[in-house]
Amino acid sequence: MAVPFSGLYPKAPSIYAPIGWKHLMKIKAFIFDLDGVLTDTAEYHYRGWKRLADELDVAFTREENEALRGIPRRESLLLMLKGRTYPEEQLQQFMERKNNYYLNFVREITAADLLPGARELLNEIRAAGLKSGLGSASKNAREVIERLGISSLLDAVSDGSSVQRQKPAPDLFLHAAGQLGFAAQECVVVEDAAAGIESARAGNFWTIGIGPASRLASADLILPNLKNARLGDLLAFFDTFQAER
Ligand code: BG6
Ligand code: MG
Repeated sequence: MAVPFSGLYPKAPSIYAPIGWKHLMKIKAFIFDLDGVLTDTAEYHYRGWKRLADELDVAFTREENEALRGIPRRESLLLMLKGRTYPEEQLQQFMERKNNYYLNFVREITAADLLPGARELLNEIRAAGLKSGLGSASKNAREVIERLGISSLLDAVSDGSSVQRQKPAPDLFLHAAGQLGFAAQECVVVEDAAAGIESARAGNFWTIGIGPASRLASADLILPNLKNARLGDLLAFFDTFQAER
């Protein structure tokens, strides 16, 4: 029997859904952002941009860098340059320079750089028969996950080369969900960037924000980090949260 969509469940996939549809929409997968969620490469991105900014005599602070979280390389450069204009060739060269600075840090990454709680959560997801995916705007994401030693724990990897439209468009997470074979409503996106939460919400995913509420107010659940993020607690939270919507 079908019941009209009442508006109580705003993420229902259609306007008509069978009674108890939310049981069918149980969480099946988690899609993780990389930089700032699984490892602290957000700091390395900052140092790379800071060094380039210093060389170009552009004032660039850690606070200003916050606006670059989750933002692709080219847009990040343009934000850092604050309206200064250069020929395209020079912009390309700046991006390459920053990326080389960034890669110097990346080459030092080992499994020890996985943030606390990340491996435990990935292991729990695997043990429970759920899936994990990566949704990172970075073109260096594959190298980073190799170095962190988590490639085998990720069932799908979508990175900066997977889609044209980057965050805050929903395309990257939809690409990851497609690879995993699940609908957005069956996946939780874990993100540290405002642009990432916006992207996930635009795709109709459930969201966990990692970091301060000031940056992640629109996430369904906000955690300071993954340290105490146990799978059972997260699934229980989303069960209750969905039921109350
Ligand atoms: C995101 C980072 O994951 O990747 C951004 O949060 C970064 O800071 C973007 O600019 C692109 O990364 P890359 O490695 O392709 O320059
Ligand atoms: Mg991030």
